Amino acid sequence: MKLFEAKDVTVRYGAVRALEEVAIEIEPGVVHGVIGPNGAGKSTFIDALSGRRKLTHGKVLYRGDDISTRPVVWRRRHGISRSFQKTSVFPSMTVREQLDMVAWRNDEDNLDEIVEVLGLGSILDMVCSEIAYGTQRSVDLAMALIGRPSVVLLDEPCAGLVAAESIQTLNHIRHLCKIRDVGAIVVDHNVEGIFGTCDVVTVLNLGQVLTTGDPVSVRKNPDVVRAYLGSAA
Ligand SMILES: Nc1ncnc2c1ncn2[C@@H]1O[C@H](COP(=O)(O)OP(=O)(O)OP(=O)(O)O)[C@@H](O)[C@H]1O
Ligand SMILES: [Mg+2]
Repeated sequence: MKLFEAKDVTVRYGAVRALEEVAIEIEPGVVHGVIGPNGAGKSTFIDALSGRRKLTHGKVLYRGDDISTRPVVWRRRHGISRSFQKTSVFPSMTVREQLDMVAWRNDEDNLDEIVEVLGLGSILDMVCSEIAYGTQRSVDLAMALIGRPSVVLLDEPCAGLVAAESIQTLNHIRHLCKIRDVGAIVVDHNVEGIFGTCDVVTVLNLGQVLTTGDPVSVRKNPDVVRAYLGSAA
């Protein structure tokens, strides 16, 4: 039985076809990158998988059950977690207060492990509004990974980070997913980072899957080069 699957996922905003029959499979401990140009439908896809956006058509399956109509809170409680393209820390709380609150709500048994991998130990007593933006992104990430979710859906965890920070963050995500056996979808614009850290890559374009495969073959795919990578390939 598959851990998590999207089948024919279609989302329309009125006349806008944001996603057309998109399919994906997520396995435990496998990091699955999703890349594509602006407006390709990446955030809509994360919203659809996390329960934030109703499907126009298609299904989301979790351990074989159709969970397409289950709300966000149900999914989080049952091991499907997400992060947002924009940072969602509470500015007036300390990092520790914020992480403890999420850990308590989600029965996390080893918060120290997450704090250590993400390098948050030295800033636990700082107020979130006072920490650097890149560190706020790591706090976002920590919150998504707290509670040993089976699946994490990460919408641009590196948005606003410089290239070196992005690579470091993607490596942290990979490490945590491997040691905790989490299946991840990671949306990002850092193509090099995604190719370098993900096990599988899907390219979305105009709401459709252009291709899915291992990073080496996706990078060489002529449709991907033409539609997205261009001279960067
Ligand atoms: N609430 C909405 N109402 C109408 N159209 C929307 C809405 N949200 C997104 N869209 C449209 O749906 C399409 C997909 O948008 P989406 O935000 O999913 O793309 P994206 O790949 O995440 O882009 P980016 O890389 O800029 O974050 C775009 O054409 C966008 O304009
Ligand atoms: Mg987006």
